[in-house]
Amino acid sequence: MKIPLLDLKSEYRIIKKDLQKQFQYCFRTQNWILSDPVKRFEEKVARYLGVTHAIGVASGTDALILSLRALALQRKKEQWFRPADEIITTPFTFIATAESIVYSGARPVFVDIDPDTYNLDPDQVKKALTKRTVGIIPVHLYGLGCQMKPLSALARKHGLFMVEDAAQSFGGEYYGKKLGALSDAGAFSFFPSKNLGGYGDAGLIATDDSSLAKEIKILRNHGQTTQYHATCIGYNSRLDAIQAAVLLAKLKHIDRFNRMRNKIARKYTVRLKKIPQVSPPHVTPEMLPAYHLYTIKVSRWRDELSAYLNRKGICARQYYPALLSQMPAFHNARIAGSLKNAHGAVEKVLSLPLHPFMDAHQVEYVVSSIERFFRGKNKKI
Ligand SMILES: Cc1ncc(COP(=O)(O)O)c(C=O)c1O
Repeated sequence: MKIPLLDLKSEYRIIKKDLQKQFQYCFRTQNWILSDPVKRFEEKVARYLGVTHAIGVASGTDALILSLRALALQRKKEQWFRPADEIITTPFTFIATAESIVYSGARPVFVDIDPDTYNLDPDQVKKALTKRTVGIIPVHLYGLGCQMKPLSALARKHGLFMVEDAAQSFGGEYYGKKLGALSDAGAFSFFPSKNLGGYGDAGLIATDDSSLAKEIKILRNHGQTTQYHATCIGYNSRLDAIQAAVLLAKLKHIDRFNRMRNKIARKYTVRLKKIPQVSPPHVTPEMLPAYHLYTIKVSRWRDELSAYLNRKGICARQYYPALLSQMPAFHNARIAGSLKNAHGAVEKVLSLPLHPFMDAHQVEYVVSSIERFFRGKNKKI
């Protein structure tokens, strides 16, 4: 049996007819830049997330960069942050999170994560604050929400902005509110493998702040306030009409697909929590996970288990195999504290296949393979 991490072909079969209609509209109208599909998608996402503004951009990375640049313009009346300005984030994330901080002109500060949720630890954030801190970027890793209440309280108390990296969490919730709609701005990625994925690169920024939304719209269109008149250095970062058409077709199904992900995750968890060496994802009552990834912690033999599952045709992967704080690209970052939990996570996490179209046999095959692996290990001890 082959079990992939995701199954875009099954999804395509479900959206195929609608997709053809959306594409035909694009081809018939021949309006390609910031045209009707983009506007419709933005309106629908704003309603879905419960925010005033949803602004489509070219990628999740751009969603982060443009959010930060807009905050520099809004709060500092400057195009970029200064090299001394510090933005706190996690080292246990995809490169783009910290890359965006560097592109915005500021310096990333890496702080440790909670050992159970793998998300930013608010106590560590508090310890890392200095007079140079300007903002915080929490990442809802694997689609499970960060502790936004204590983080928001810190941000409010110290006059900091907060941008959620919601690249992995479309549709997830925290206390009944959508992830990515809980701070100054939420940055989403529609990279094809994401819960809501395009057929290429795409992204979006959600915000309730009208002046920030205005800056972001200017930035995504070459810094132009009127045609051929730029007030700041911007980007060509508009959401593509074809991607918007794909995303419109997929958006209709996102809640159902996320429910299917949650159902499979619950099946995994019931069985896997009986294995002493395995800790399933840490889900607390205030969370509705989007389960972009189902990631377990393996206390012993993680690499051997991973290789064993791969040999059995089960795609198990490590997200992430290294910390950003260890990468030469971020040599200018400040590292606050030991990052002990983040280092521990690199050694122990393993993401298992989880997509809406997994059937009961496939789930059973993954779980029984993990059980068999540990039975074999226990016999040898
Ligand atoms: C946590 C995180 N942040 C940012 C990004 C960047 O998104 P994109 O690939 O759409 O630029 C990704 C996606 O890979 C991500 O997983």
